[in-house]
Amino acid sequence: MELQVREMRLEETPLVIDYFHSSTPEHLEMLGVDPSRLPPKDAWASLFRSQFSLPPEERRGVFVIWLGDGRPIGFSSCDKIVFGKQANMHLHVTEPAQRQQGIGAHCVRLSVDIYFRVLRIHQLFCEPNAFNIGPNRTLQRAGFKYIKTHMTVPGPLNFHQAVNRWLIERTPES
Ligand SMILES: CC(C)(COP(=O)(O)OP(=O)(O)OC[C@H]1O[C@@H](n2cnc3c(N)ncnc32)[C@H](O)[C@@H]1OP(=O)(O)O)[C@@H](O)C(=O)NCCC(=O)NCCS
Repeated sequence: MELQVREMRLEETPLVIDYFHSSTPEHLEMLGVDPSRLPPKDAWASLFRSQFSLPPEERRGVFVIWLGDGRPIGFSSCDKIVFGKQANMHLHVTEPAQRQQGIGAHCVRLSVDIYFRVLRIHQLFCEPNAFNIGPNRTLQRAGFKYIKTHMTVPGPLNFHQAVNRWLIERTPES
């Protein structure tokens, strides 16, 4: 399968909304996501429209799409962005049957390159649920360094949980 990673277009954002809204309670639990905190589909679409109207340095989130042979197979996003300094990333292969075949590790590496370039950051964090083996193994494979395990509410969609903090650092491009 030919893998490609690029910034997501507005018309592709239903991939994100549909992924979360069609996830089973068990999957959301593994992600550390509280289903009651998912924005309704329409409100979420309108949030995307307003975010995409802003330049990258003013956006609260940046999204990239993962394509396999030209078709969407996953996505990544960044939030907690401090432009020119740091951000937090997330990672998802949307179809369960396509997981554990090397897509995540490959696409995370390509996503990381995009975030460092677009956001001009020098630190990129990722904080998956500590009990969710997939992302923890994938981040290590993609070159992230383990920092610590701690209890937190990682984001607006999440419940209080144990997470592992992973980090990649790079010197900003001049
Ligand atoms: C996390 C995710 C994006 C990883 O993508 P992937 O394509 O499955 O990962 P890869 O096939 O590249 O695997 C990378 C490594 O992780 C391991 N791994 C991945 N999923 C695993 C699992 N469920 N159990 C054990 N090991 C797993 C692979 O064996 C591989 O290990 P290696 O480095 O020893 O070879 C994908 O599993 C996913 O979408 N999971 C559900 C969403 C999720 O949990 N997102 C994280 C939210 S923060």
